[in-house]
Amino acid sequence: MHNTRKVTEDIVWLGASDRRIELFENVYPLPDGMSYNNYLILDEKTALMDGVDESVSAQFFENLEVALSGRILDYLVVQHMEPDHCACIPQLISKYPNLQIVATAKALQMIHQFFGLDLEGRTIAVKDGDDLKLGKHELTFVAAPMVHWPEVVVTYDKTSGALFSADAFGSFGAMSGNIFADEVDWERDWADEARRYYVNIVGKYGAQTTALLNKAKALDIKMLLPLHGHIWRRDLYQIIGRYTKWAGYIPEVDSVAIFYGSIYGNTANAADVLATKLAEKGIKDVRVFDTSKTHPSELVSRAFQYGTLVFASATYNAEIFDTMHTLLVDLKNHNLSGRKVGLIENGSWAAVSGRKMREILDSMKDMEVLEPIVSIKSALDEASYQELEKLADALEESLE
Ligand SMILES: Cc1cc2nc3c(=O)[nH]c(=O)nc-3n(C[C@H](O)[C@H](O)[C@H](O)COP(=O)(O)O)c2cc1C
Ligand SMILES: [Fe+2]
Ligand SMILES: [Fe+2]
Repeated sequence: MHNTRKVTEDIVWLGASDRRIELFENVYPLPDGMSYNNYLILDEKTALMDGVDESVSAQFFENLEVALSGRILDYLVVQHMEPDHCACIPQLISKYPNLQIVATAKALQMIHQFFGLDLEGRTIAVKDGDDLKLGKHELTFVAAPMVHWPEVVVTYDKTSGALFSADAFGSFGAMSGNIFADEVDWERDWADEARRYYVNIVGKYGAQTTALLNKAKALDIKMLLPLHGHIWRRDLYQIIGRYTKWAGYIPEVDSVAIFYGSIYGNTANAADVLATKLAEKGIKDVRVFDTSKTHPSELVSRAFQYGTLVFASATYNAEIFDTMHTLLVDLKNHNLSGRKVGLIENGSWAAVSGRKMREILDSMKDMEVLEPIVSIKSALDEASYQELEKLADALEESLE
């Protein structure tokens, strides 16, 4: 059965949720599934804003047919050519013979790369600032290169004030009928997953996202319509404010997140002792994470959220413990910058994890490593405990 909702009188949401999927992009755990949005504009011409993932395409095609109610589909706007929104292009092409694909030249080239289709006479190449008139609605394409693919455009509809924002402002998580952010407790139930989505999918491209946010300031935006997660039609500053911070690598929480990688538990013990010392100093919202237990995508998200980070790692085969190494490389690859950092190393015969962690942090932008770097020989003893107390003092000072 079809399952659509009206966004406005003539913009229809056609998306669907997939609750079976385990991993987005075959890497990010989805405990609550994933949503794929797209939108149909019904004007003198009909325009479909993106498609969906293959997993929900049956629902999508049923929705599309009902929403069109016998009309032909004139345009498919492909805002970027990632398969989670484009798997259905070959079927759309054959099902709707008059359909024209509207996309950047680069996206059109990618359609050919993915599908090898002959689209002679069926494409309209657009670039930044170009318009597409549907009748009452007039779409303007705004280039958003590397947010998060090179060929991305977002689309502004002057008539409704809608910004079709591609993957920007999206989230992990299936939706449950309530497709508008004002229909859910977004802060309580969605902000963490929206951050995990942004940080992992787009987070590397903070400069490009900031450029898009600046371009968007010039537009009179009344609604944000992303390709995943909720539609924003009220309190837009709530999500735009968050994006401004995430894209600028600005922390949301002025406290300490401690990440440890530990084999036998002694480095974990040092992390807990440090957390307790910080708590006793009156520091609130301290969080401790086991890098072997919590998924890297969640750890990276927390590192973006917190202003001060502590990395505590056992030495493993003359290296940083594997799961900690993965985290640090992930943070570097996502261009995290501007954090105060504490370090704790552990080793039973030749501890090198402190130096090696520092090498990665020194290759990142504006990561300030606090003194002392605590070195533990197997388990905390009186001397290393005193070093840990000094690190707690340095962390307290850095928060003031
Ligand atoms: C596979 C393996 C490799 C290790 N390699 C080193 C090493 O290169 N240098 C070192 O000092 N300790 C090494 N260790 C020892 C641990 O780093 C050390 O026992 C540490 O205290 C463990 O801390 P934990 O209790 O937090 O796991 C290794 C341990 C294992 C299991
Ligand atoms: Fe994407
Ligand atoms: Fe996407």
